Amino acid sequence: MTSSLPSSPFAAGTKITDPRFFVGRKEELQVMMARMTAMPPISVNIVGPRRIGKSSLLYHFFQTYEQRVSAPTRYVVIYLSLQDSRCQREDGLYQAVAWELWHNHTVIQNVALVEPLRVKPFNRLAFSAAMEHYKRLGVLPVLCLDEFGPLFRHPDQFDNGFFDNLRSLMESGVLMLVVASHRRLNFYQRRHKIRSTFFKLWEVLSLGELTQQEAQALVCLPASKITGTTPTLTIQEQQLAMQWSKRHPYLLQLAASLLYEARQLGRDEIWAKAEFNKEARRVPKLPWKFTKRTSYSIIFICFVIIFLAIVLVSISLLSPLPIGELLQNVLRK
Ligand SMILES: Nc1ncnc2c1ncn2[C@@H]1O[C@H](COP(=O)(O)OP(=O)(O)OP(=O)(O)O)[C@@H](O)[C@H]1O
Ligand SMILES: [Mg+2]
Repeated sequence: MTSSLPSSPFAAGTKITDPRFFVGRKEELQVMMARMTAMPPISVNIVGPRRIGKSSLLYHFFQTYEQRVSAPTRYVVIYLSLQDSRCQREDGLYQAVAWELWHNHTVIQNVALVEPLRVKPFNRLAFSAAMEHYKRLGVLPVLCLDEFGPLFRHPDQFDNGFFDNLRSLMESGVLMLVVASHRRLNFYQRRHKIRSTFFKLWEVLSLGELTQQEAQALVCLPASKITGTTPTLTIQEQQLAMQWSKRHPYLLQLAASLLYEARQLGRDEIWAKAEFNKEARRVPKLPWKFTKRTSYSIIFICFVIIFLAIVLVSISLLSPLPIGELLQNVLRK
């Protein structure tokens, strides 16, 4: 569902492509940048349930990396969704990568980076040779591959040889991958019984709900970031959106866009809540996350229960009377 109101900054649908409306994820972006500039670079697996913002984060990283590094020409970052029909075959995937590389600023401006992409057929060998050529020129290709899961539906195309080749490029610091998937990559490895050690090289970034501050920034988005800073929603609408959505980015966008729409259409908040509930049912619940304080309280309560159980068992073993009778006597006194 996407807001159809032109001045609304809220969009509850697919990935955010306008960087002005992307909110938060500062810590995750910092980690991604640090792994990209590390020696050797470390590949990152962004993991999270549906609609938590994996694609938006990956796309935003791709859109903004040049502003975040001191020497942007040393990196060539591309974004590709593996749901793309070209990516159902191994050669098709390399060709789709080459196409995206071809359209990168740094590549366009440097003939030496374009040449290795012209090789025909552009297969595993040509792809690896191109990546190694980039390394010799001091350029790191970073492939942001969204929706990595569907790749495993084609085991005849993406076999151990495919994964081993990527592993060897990653291990020698020639290539960095940033992939988004619903489950951790080693889950797919176990499920599809793939032997390759490709699956051991990753740093996992688990995406959850936004922080309080980030969620607040989202509901305070102005109608047009170019001309104004006044939030689109009233204070009361902002509070309602926060209450309904519990800092989940998609649900926040949904609540905000419905509250805004309700105001535009002259409807009340009850209508907005009913519409919100209909859509929100389809979004998977986030796994429970306890705060440190709650975890300590749970451990303490368990400890007390175990302690009481041990005391009762010891008394029942030592006392000649049955435990029930003994308790009754104690209570009577
Ligand atoms: N950082 C963000 N800033 C603003 N809105 C966000 C952000 N992340 C996610 N959203 C909201 O959540 C929606 C879904 O985001 P996205 O498509 O990136 O999620 P996803 O995890 O890739 O979902 P799926 O698992 O279905 O592919 C977006 O349309 C947007 O409304
Ligand atoms: Mg996605």
